[in-house]
Parts: sequence; structure tokens; C-alpha cells
Amino acid sequence: MDKKKIMILGADGYLGWPLSLRMLAKGNEVLGIDNMATRRSVEEVGSTSALPIGSPENRVKAARKKFGGEINLINGDITNHDFLYKSIKEFKPDTIVHFAEQRSAPYSMIDVKHAGYTMTNNIVGTINLIYAIKDLGLNSHIVKMGTMGEFGTPKFDIPEAAFVDVEINGKKDKITTPKWAGSWYHWTKVHDTNNLLFASRLWGITTTDIMQGPVYGTRSSEINSEALFTRFDFDEIWGTVVNRYCVEAALGEPLTPYGKGGQVRGFLSLQDSMDALTLLIENPPEEGEYRTVNQFMELLSVNEIAEIVKAESAKLGIEATIKNVENPRVEAEQHYYNPERKVLPSLGFKLKVKMKDGVGQILKDLMPYKKNIEKYRNVIMPKTKWKA
Ligand SMILES: NC(=O)c1ccc[n+]([C@@H]2O[C@H](COP(=O)([O-])OP(=O)(O)OC[C@H]3O[C@@H](n4cnc5c(N)ncnc54)[C@H](O)[C@@H]3O)[C@@H](O)[C@H]2O)c1
Repeated sequence: MDKKKIMILGADGYLGWPLSLRMLAKGNEVLGIDNMATRRSVEEVGSTSALPIGSPENRVKAARKKFGGEINLINGDITNHDFLYKSIKEFKPDTIVHFAEQRSAPYSMIDVKHAGYTMTNNIVGTINLIYAIKDLGLNSHIVKMGTMGEFGTPKFDIPEAAFVDVEINGKKDKITTPKWAGSWYHWTKVHDTNNLLFASRLWGITTTDIMQGPVYGTRSSEINSEALFTRFDFDEIWGTVVNRYCVEAALGEPLTPYGKGGQVRGFLSLQDSMDALTLLIENPPEEGEYRTVNQFMELLSVNEIAEIVKAESAKLGIEATIKNVENPRVEAEQHYYNPERKVLPSLGFKLKVKMKDGVGQILKDLMPYKKNIEKYRNVIMPKTKWKA
């Protein structure tokens, strides 16, 4: 592969940092942008990353030392369009990966301030990016991270398509694939999708819009030392279910599926997320095309995941228990779930990490830091409710 210029918005985050390392390791020039919002917002809710992460400066130093090559991480806010335009104009990226959004559903549900911030931050950031590409006359490929949560849990099979055929009162047409998101955060992703689709129709912007399931894990091919760790959140606001269960197990707390625990989602490991993203970056759609991708690996319920974490914990001598707790969210707790997935397999994607192996690795990685997370026990149980 030729050396490419890859810009990563949200490069300091859980996914952005490992992708920066991956792109650097593959010989590309990497420019990361991040306003450090997640570091501040995790602190705001009284929590921290379970694995230690370096300052942005130290991370970049560690990355250069390990992989050589060119990587920079600039502190800036993409809702400031002057800043974003300037950064893109100077760097002239071949690909812009857009992760730079407020990504917690519970955070968006705290109150009007957090809902409004999530709406503004996510939707304005994406619209700024769309306009930057158009106004600067570039043909950079936008790789935008959305979520499988845009679809909700419909009784029909979830298509991997931007449009579906409908017949209303005997008349046929195409409509955008129906979405029913379950939090203000997830709705921002639906709005982003509509905006990207519209922009692509208007101006032919080359876009890959990824509907990704929840990611878990501590490792990717490039992360093999403390200096390169990515953040690992576990509290009720920022921790996704697998990562949260693993910290519960490590602390000797019960694993806590919400409600009946029959909620099924399409999970994937950090390693598989990075492999999938690499394939999508290296195999862009046709110029001007909008491509939608369902990115997940294993369909599992949150109860089944608790059993996996319990079994993997037992292998390390940890006796984990499972206690279903009241569901703070409004969501179906038993439901049909059958999303389509054909783009990644067509590009030759192969699953590398099964959940049980990923969980075993997380538990091993957490153990040396158990003492540091002890004092954060009180931020794990859900307090943020969808209905007050
Ligand atoms: N982690 C998952 O399981 C998952 C699953 C599906 C989709 N996603 C999406 O993938 C993306 C990355 O997720 P993540 O888990 O790495 O989240 P993260 O919060 O760790 O990373 C996002 C990064 O973007 C930065 N950011 C936010 N707003 C910004 C702004 N206005 N300007 C500049 N930087 C900004 C944050 O500081 C953070 O470092 C998000 O858009 C998220 O919604 C994540």
C-alpha cells in the first residue's frame, strides 16, 4: 500500500488512539485531532480510565519510538469550523476518520445540558467536516463512525443499506432505512447519517458510514505495552457492557446485566474493529459514493456475556457472581435481532478474536491496576435513568 495521509478526528479516544497506531505502523502519515473532551467528561462523572494512559505528548513520543514515522496529535475542537478548515487545508488528507463525538448514551440522558451538548457537539462537528470537504474542493474519503444503535431493535431484519423499498397505499418508492434510536446520543448518529447521505447526494462526497456495535477489549496488534495503552472506561456512564463486567469481576463485585438481560447486540473486539477499519480505509467506495457498513462480529445477549465473563474469571481464580439489576434504560429486554452484514465479508474480513478470548485478555490486563480502580467502585452501578 502507498503511504497515505490519514487524519483521525478523536485520535485521543478509545478507538482513535489504536487506529492512529495502526495507520502509523502501516507506514502512513497520521494527524490526530482531539479536544480532550472525553478525558474531562469522564472526570466530571467522578471516574477514570482503568488502564493508565499517557498525556497526548507522551503518547505521541511512545508511538514515534515504537513505529518511527510521522504522527502528530493536535488539541482542537472540530465544532470550530475555522480550526477544522485550517487543519484539513494544511494537511490535505487522503482519508479523514471521524470519531470525534460525545459517545456515551447515559451522558446524553443526564439532563438538558448534557443532551444539548451531545446534539451540538456531534451534529455540528459532522456538518463542519462535510462543508470543509466541499468548500476546500477536496476528494478525501470520510470514514464516519456511527452505531448499530441507530436501528434500535426492529422486528424486521436490519438491512445493510441506506435505502429500502416501500409500498404505501399501493404506491412504491424508496425511503431511507428506518431507524429508531434509544438515546439522544444514538439519535445524533441518525441525524449525522441523514446529513452525510444528503451531502453525498448534493456534492458527491465519498463516504463510508459505519454502523458499529459495542467494542470491547484492551489490545490491538499495535498495543503491547503500558506506554501504548488506550483508555478503558468502566463506569455507568462511559463503560460499555463487556468492559464494565470485566472491572466488576476484577473488583469482586457482581456482574450486573440490566433488566431481564435478553438485550442482544453485535459485539466486536478492539482488534477486529481496527482490522475492519483498516480494510475500509484501504478499500474506499467509488469516488462520490455513500457506502453504509454494518460492523459487528458476534451477536450475544448481555446475559450471555455475563456468563462468558464469569467463566473466564473462573480460569483466573476469580469467583464472579451475576446479579440482574433494574434497567435504567428504556429498551426491549427480549427481542428479535438480525442485522445483515455483507460489506466486510466481501472485502475478505475474518474474525480474529472471539469474545471469550478477548475477555480473558482484558482480565489479565486489568489485574495489575486493580488497586488504582478500587476507589471507583461507587461509579459502576447505574444511577442515570432514562425516565426519572
Ligand atoms: N466504543 C464503542 O464501543 C463504539 C461503538 C460504536 C460507535 N462508536 C463511536 O466511535 C467513535 C469513537 O468512540 P470511542 O469509544 O473511541 O469514544 P471516545 O470518547 O473514547 O473517543 C472520542 C474522542 O473524540 C474526542 N472529541 C469529542 N468531541 C470532540 C470535538 N468536538 N472536537 C475534537 N475532539 C472531540 C474526545 O475527546 C475523544 O477523545 C464515537 O463517535 C463513538 O460514538 C464507539
